[in-house]
Amino acid sequence: MKCFIAPSMLSCDFARLADESLAIVKQNGADWLHIDVMDGHFVPNLTIGAPVVKCLKKHSTAFMDCHLMVENPQNYVKAFKEAGADMFTFHLEAVPKEVQIVDLIQSIKDSGMLVGVSIKPKTPVESLWETVDIPSMVDMILVMTVEPGFGGQSFMADMMPKVATLRQKYPELLIQVDGGLDQNTIKQAAPAGANVIVAGSSVFGAKDRGAAITGLRQACEA
Ligand code: DX5
Ligand code: ZN
Repeated sequence: MKCFIAPSMLSCDFARLADESLAIVKQNGADWLHIDVMDGHFVPNLTIGAPVVKCLKKHSTAFMDCHLMVENPQNYVKAFKEAGADMFTFHLEAVPKEVQIVDLIQSIKDSGMLVGVSIKPKTPVESLWETVDIPSMVDMILVMTVEPGFGGQSFMADMMPKVATLRQKYPELLIQVDGGLDQNTIKQAAPAGANVIVAGSSVFGAKDRGAAITGLRQACEA
C-alpha cells in the first residue's frame, strides 16, 4: 500500500522553518509537511497558527497537513484555508457540543481543504463512526499514538488495535499515526494498517534525514 511520510515540523528549527521545510521535501524526500497547531488550551503547549502557515506557503508548494490541537476548531477553518492549508485535521474531542460535527466537516470540504479527524489515546475508535460517516465525509483519520502536546514521547503500541479496526472497516482510507514513530515502531504501525506516517524527532534528530524518511517509507510499504 502506498504510504505518505509527513515529518512533523514541530521538531525542526522554527527559526529556520522555511529552509527546513524546503529541504525536508526537496532534498530528503518527504511527501507532506505536518504542521502541529497548538493553542495552549486543548493541549498544554503553544506552537504556530495560520499566519505562520501563510508565510510558509510562500516558500513551499508542499502539501500542508495541518493538525489542529485547538479548542473550537470551527473558528479556524477560514484562516487556515486562506493560509494555504491542504488538510485540516481537527480533534473530535475539541468540538463543542453546540457545533454539529457534520457542519464543521462540510465547511472544511466547502473551503476546498481535505478533512482529517483525530482521536486522542483515551478516545475509543467507535466514537469515530458513531459520529461521522466514514469514508464519505472524511479523507483521513488520525489515531494519536501519544498524548498530543509535545514531540519526543514514546509510541503507544496499545493504539494499534484502533488502527487495525479502522483498516479492516475501511480498506482505502488514509489512516495517519502520530507520535513516537521511528524505524522500530513503524514495524507495528504499518502491519496494523497505517499509511500516513508522522515523524518528528526520529526524522529531524537523524544524522541522515533522507535515510530516515526512506527507511520509514520502505518499512511502511513492505
Ligand atoms: C504531538 C504532535 C506530533 C509530534 C510528533 O502532539 O501531534 O506531531 O510532533 O513528534 P514525535 O515524532 O517526536 O513523537
Ligand atoms: Zn501532529
